[in-house]
Amino acid sequence: MSSRLAVEIAGLKLGNPVMLASGILGSSGMTLKRVVDAGAGAVVTKSLGLEPREGYPNPTLVQVECGLLNAMGLPNPGVHCFGEEIMEAKELGVPMIVSIYGFSSGEFADVAEIAVDAGANALELNVSCPHVEKTGAEVGQSKELVAEVVNKVKNSVNKPIFVKLTPNVADIVEVAEAAVEAGADAITAINTVRAMTIDVETKTPILANKIGGLSGPAIKPIAVRCVYEIRRSVDVPVIGCGGISTWRDAVEFMLAGASAVQIGTAIAFSGLGVFKSVTEGIDAYLKEKGFRSVGEIVGLSNRD
Ligand code: DHB
Repeated sequence: MSSRLAVEIAGLKLGNPVMLASGILGSSGMTLKRVVDAGAGAVVTKSLGLEPREGYPNPTLVQVECGLLNAMGLPNPGVHCFGEEIMEAKELGVPMIVSIYGFSSGEFADVAEIAVDAGANALELNVSCPHVEKTGAEVGQSKELVAEVVNKVKNSVNKPIFVKLTPNVADIVEVAEAAVEAGADAITAINTVRAMTIDVETKTPILANKIGGLSGPAIKPIAVRCVYEIRRSVDVPVIGCGGISTWRDAVEFMLAGASAVQIGTAIAFSGLGVFKSVTEGIDAYLKEKGFRSVGEIVGLSNRD
């Protein structure tokens, strides 16, 4: 692995800046291991809560123009159950970031403590799921609630806290600033965009939940704009997420201000080989342009 690719995010050392995004292949130690073997520099689990959740009925996922639309309903076995998977994942050899959600700030903190006891290297707070009531974006659309959750988690565990933000707000910068003021160590931008698709034959929304979150190439320019704006106003690393499927996409996010990137939907479209093609492409770009590290291009488009 080229030393040009090594990055440090909130104290976590990554061999390369290309991470697995939450929600895809993050539900078991075995699938996380497949992602690491494919070359990911770090992995983020599917979001875990205090209690097991079945999620919504099907259909929960549908392909649309330039992306995927999903409303899974946060299905997960609960953080207690995931302990064994986390233990297995401890042997992964790359940092494991456990994504968590809660229905109150106290619950976020309880889940965080259990995840850290089980071996999480960092936490990513999901304050941005666009459609589950009383959690996710219902927290992330209020800077006061985001600050309360971050503060509570920060005071409960001694691990880096990433906060994953929703683009479904008027001003993502004020939410990022509130998160950082409350102690966030990094910002992940962005989660999915609230969206819908309707079947013209049945004349009904396709997803059982009707409304879901859009991911994939369709949302990339929104995500790049969010990373750019956040990078200008906070002093912690920004992790870019949203529509990255090639090394060009990853470099674009870095030039906007991302210190690392996350890949999710592209795995569904192109398979796990995407980790290798993106990391090798970033490395070749750095070499060709004469840069010695990823850090040298972070925010280069963002200097006036
Ligand atoms: C789900 C959760 C999310 O955070 C998201 O962005 C999309 C879907 C879910 O499990 O439904």
